Amino acid sequence: MHHPTRLPIIAGNWKMYKTPREAIDFVRTLIPLLEPLSAAERVICPPFIAISGVAEALAGTSIKVGAQNVHTQTAGAFTGNISAPMLQGLVDYVIVGHSEVRQYLGDTDAQINQKVKAILAHGMKPIVAVGESLAQHEAGEAAAFVHSQLRGALADLPAESIAEMVIAYEPLWAIGTGRNATGELANTIIGGIRHTVAAMYGDDAAQAIRIQYGGSVKPGNMAEFMMQPEIDGALVGGASLNADDFAALVRIAIESKQHDGR
Ligand code: PGA
Repeated sequence: MHHPTRLPIIAGNWKMYKTPREAIDFVRTLIPLLEPLSAAERVICPPFIAISGVAEALAGTSIKVGAQNVHTQTAGAFTGNISAPMLQGLVDYVIVGHSEVRQYLGDTDAQINQKVKAILAHGMKPIVAVGESLAQHEAGEAAAFVHSQLRGALADLPAESIAEMVIAYEPLWAIGTGRNATGELANTIIGGIRHTVAAMYGDDAAQAIRIQYGGSVKPGNMAEFMMQPEIDGALVGGASLNADDFAALVRIAIESKQHDGR
């Protein structure tokens, strides 16, 4: 059964889409669709440059803002980067460890761990993305690999902050490919993630932490994931760029969790 205190969380990762102007216009379309759906947490993660405009447009609503990445250090000679203190007050959440950042910017689990610490130290909540490659998936190594990613990314954190965090399980072979995992498979891996969290920080933390599925989530497959007891929400790329689709995902999440036996 789904843990009653885990509020479903649907986060839209806009990636490198939308100018600041487009972002504000789009958010104005989203507000009336998303604002009534408060039985799930809704998070918008625009590009850095659009964050302040989006945050301003969302002021007074229950819709949260997130960033797509952050630097490990709080300040310094790091051209082109954004630090946790710069995001503090503007965003509630920060995605770290997204596979595109791991792949193109070379983020390691140790760096992701530093980023998580910086985010928590500045009063924000990390969404830690993990997931295996197609080769690892086919070799049956998904659970072991995700476990090792988590061991690194979640090392030595303040235990009381674990319940606030979000983990996103995103198999690489499902991101932007139209090839989603099955609900059952994602539920199994996510159950394993909860085990890893329990081993590191205890059962209470593991039962409280929210774990999303991500990878080609769309209205047509959302219920399959959200009906699973271990899955608490979704991290959504492509479908979050369409207002009706994103609202449909949130609605399906709420309906699915109301029907899972609680
Ligand atoms: P997608 O992206 O929904 O477009 O597959 C998911 C993600 O990268 O978070």
